[in-house]
Amino acid sequence: MAPRPLLQVVIGSTRPQRVGGAIAAWFYEVATAHQGFEVELVDLATVDLPLFDEPQQPMRRQYVHEHTKRWSATVERADAFVFVIPEYNHSMNAATKNAIDFLHHEWRYKPFGLVSYGGASRGLRAAQALKPTLAALKMALAGDVAISLAATPVTDGVFEGDEHLARSANGVLDELARLAPLYAQLRT
Ligand SMILES: Cc1cc2nc3c(=O)[nH]c(=O)nc-3n(C[C@H](O)[C@H](O)[C@H](O)COP(=O)(O)O)c2cc1C
Repeated sequence: MAPRPLLQVVIGSTRPQRVGGAIAAWFYEVATAHQGFEVELVDLATVDLPLFDEPQQPMRRQYVHEHTKRWSATVERADAFVFVIPEYNHSMNAATKNAIDFLHHEWRYKPFGLVSYGGASRGLRAAQALKPTLAALKMALAGDVAISLAATPVTDGVFEGDEHLARSANGVLDELARLAPLYAQLRT
């Protein structure tokens, strides 16, 4: 049997007391139960990148910093991503954009899903802001899950997505599973 593609669930918020970790843990559980992927949590708070500080454009892949080389190796091994992102001031949060900007080839021709969250907006403005950045890297959108923290809050550090959100998450995972092998061919 072919090995399952590796899906990285990226926690975009780096804020102490963030809710993003609980939402990513929920998505991780749904993705593990889906069984289409090996699933890995990637926490940008732990990755701990500074503001972009490479002298060369990432397209050249001539990284001088150890933190960039480590980040490159992490992203390189993935076949697909789900970015779990908060909405900050009607857009994506800076840590997510910064982590994406550090690399180039490691992202290319890989599919992604978005799990956004916020107030009434459900983080959709953050999701819409992030899409052109990922399209510029030739990444393919598999779908979105949009969460209202008012309707489904994080309680005592735990997020329990309702049936509707679980269906939405599984739709994204199904599409990622369809796209991952096709995009893997484009990378060869
Ligand atoms: C700097 C900042 C800006 C925010 N701007 C928005 C916003 O534009 N729209 C929204 O729905 N919520 C906004 N919020 C509320 C966040 O949705 C809420 O704090 C959420 O918990 C943030 O995710 P995190 O806890 O994982 O960092 C903002 C929060 C912060 C910290």
